[in-house]
Order: sequence, then C-alpha cells, then structure tokens
Amino acid sequence: MNDREKSLNELAGQVEQCRNCRLSETRTKTVFGEGSPDAEVMFIGEGPGKQEDLTGRPFVGRAGELLTRIIERGMGMSRSQVYIANLVKCRATVDMKMMRDRPPDPVEVEICTPYLLRQVEIIGPKVIVALGSPSTKFLLKTGTGITKIRGKWGDFNGIPVMPTYHPSYVLRNGGETSPLRREVWEDIKKVLEKLGRPLPSGRKGGAS
Ligand code: URA
Repeated sequence: MNDREKSLNELAGQVEQCRNCRLSETRTKTVFGEGSPDAEVMFIGEGPGKQEDLTGRPFVGRAGELLTRIIERGMGMSRSQVYIANLVKCRATVDMKMMRDRPPDPVEVEICTPYLLRQVEIIGPKVIVALGSPSTKFLLKTGTGITKIRGKWGDFNGIPVMPTYHPSYVLRNGGETSPLRREVWEDIKKVLEKLGRPLPSGRKGGAS
C-alpha cells in the first residue's frame, strides 16, 4: 500500500464516522469515492443516489452505468484507473425520508467539501472532470450555468478542470439518443488530449 492509499483509507475512516450534518441521520452508507490513488483523472459528481447510498460506492446506478461507458468506451480506460468521487458523501433527499433525491444545499456542501479537497490533495490528479452544475460551481467558484461553461477549461488550485454534463442530466434529456452525448464526447476528447492519451479506436460520435 502506498502513502496515497494509506491517506485515503484514513480519510475514508473519518468520513464513515462523520456526523457533521443532518445527512448523516438518514444515510445508509457513506460514499467516499473509489478508484486509483494515483489516478491522472478524477471525476467529481454531485452526491450519492439511492444505489450509491445502499452500496457505499459512487456512480453505481443508472447514471453510473453511463459514466462507466464514458470511461471504458469513450476513454479506453477502466474505472479502477481513474478516481470517482462526489461533492458530498451522503445522500440528500427532499424530505429526509429517502424517497426523492435533491442536490445538496449550500450548508451541506460547505460542511462536507473539506473531505473532497483532501481527496484531491492526496491524489493530485492531472485533470478533473466536473460532472454537472454543483461540482462545477464549487470547483470553479462560478455562477455560470453548465450549458454555457461546459467544454471550457477551468482551473482548481492549478489543476485543469473540464466541466461537462452530469450523466443523470444526459439520461433525463434524451438518454441513449440524447444530442448532449455528442457534447460530452467533445469534452472528453479534450480531456484525453490534455492527458496525452489516444482516442480509443473505432470511436464514432459519442462518448458512450
Ligand atoms: N450521481 C452523482 O452525482 N453521484 C453518484 O455517485 C451517483 C449519482
């Protein structure tokens, strides 16, 4: 186990015990994040949904299937080569009864994000992909909507950040045939270029 792995395990232990906000009262499991401690690319989503809350793993529901396809088919990589995390580590739901998901509120983001910042510091990725509006707003300190800002490089503490649509947003807007898939693919191509990685062979017009 290398130092990064040790530091991440230690931090994951702290997250598991965390009672700093009310989301801890309703969660089943904390969702710390997973992947390579030495990852060159880190994906940052919003927060756990139902499947993630039940399993303790990020992006394992429907949005996760799409993200996995983007990583595997679009980038020619595996989930274990990258690192996948979220802005907040516990599931946020509208009525605290664990029925419908909602974005984390500003207080929850403020309380939880020191964990994410430490993850980024430990891993030190070459590139961050911000999935959707909340993580983009947080990392780039911007109020600009995701439609306007996606595809444009930003900076987080010296790390290039590529904002793109959240997989759930793509699924809600046309799914398999969504025109947004082409835009995500454009963004992912820029990430591959920045990493100096080749485009996977046989790619047509979509990251997934
Ligand atoms: N959506 C997210 O933002 N994160 C997950 O882990 C799953 C769905």
